[in-house]
Amino acid sequence: MDAIVVSELVKDYPTRKGPVRALAGVSFRVGQGEIVGLLGANGAGKTTAIKILCGLLRATSGQAAVFGVPSSRPEVARHVAALLEGSRNVYWRLSVEENLRFFAGLQGVPPREARRRTGELVALFALEEKRRITANLLSQGMKQKLALACALVKGTPLLLLDEPTLGLDVETSHELRGLIRELVCAHGKTVLLSSHDMGVVEDTCARVVILARGRVVADDSVPKLLALFRTRAYRVSLRDGLPDGARVQLAARLSAVRFLEAERALEVELPPEEDVYSLMDALREAGVAVDGVSQAEPDLEDVFLRIVRDERREER
Ligand SMILES: Nc1ncnc2c1ncn2[C@@H]1O[C@H](COP(=O)(O)OP(=O)(O)O)[C@@H](O)[C@H]1O
Ligand SMILES: [Mg+2]
Repeated sequence: MDAIVVSELVKDYPTRKGPVRALAGVSFRVGQGEIVGLLGANGAGKTTAIKILCGLLRATSGQAAVFGVPSSRPEVARHVAALLEGSRNVYWRLSVEENLRFFAGLQGVPPREARRRTGELVALFALEEKRRITANLLSQGMKQKLALACALVKGTPLLLLDEPTLGLDVETSHELRGLIRELVCAHGKTVLLSSHDMGVVEDTCARVVILARGRVVADDSVPKLLALFRTRAYRVSLRDGLPDGARVQLAARLSAVRFLEAERALEVELPPEEDVYSLMDALREAGVAVDGVSQAEPDLEDVFLRIVRDERREER
């Protein structure tokens, strides 16, 4: 059974100016033990999808289910815990340990089990030295770690993490990425993680679902997405600068070309119907002296920008 099944999900927010469509028919699945990134620019619908999955919001239409339980039912709480965007949802007057036990208690975890889990999480998150410190005295990063630990103390197999590293310093962000990977690899959790930080996603997720304006525009493994892009992106180093008029000529022939003045290079993305020969032809015709051509090594951010741009072009 899949951990998450979302099918044709639509969400309209009522506003004074009429309904705002945040999700326009979103479908995807997440298998047990997977760690999947939900990617998208601001406003793409990531938070909305996560809120529906954990039962905080009702969908306008379509289905969302967690381990076979519809998200609109109260029992979903037994299967899923969520760390919501920007919320360091811990009690500032309680210590680290008290917070963990309090959240365990809220979820109906028996006291003995709560103590055991608290001990485990404090160790896993390297919070031993802070266990008796009140949350208000913790750094941003520590608060975020504690908030994640409080979500975990429920002991659910599925975790929804909405922008878990937003606003954290680089070091804490990396530490959290490591922890999230460990939760999946060593503790058998399933994670759906939303972010608009590609670095975080590239570091943690094996597969990504990309949302753009409430629709799924890509759903594939990270290596496959990178490979798809790699075959189409080239870097051309120039012997001399660009001759007069070459810039205009190239821009007209090649849809996506970037001039890197300082590095004396061009970066070109070829549309699927073109190949490296047509690139060489275009360069020759524009009178450009070429030093070498190599395939560019894309990262997830390049892929993301590319997909979203193609999508926009299609819409027009
Ligand atoms: N409570 C709300 N009322 C009206 N519109 C909302 C509300 N929450 C989100 N939206 C709109 O829904 C869309 C998706 O938002 P959201 O799910 O927060 O996206 P993301 O998390 O990807 O940034 C955006 O256009 C946003 O403005
Ligand atoms: Mg959001």
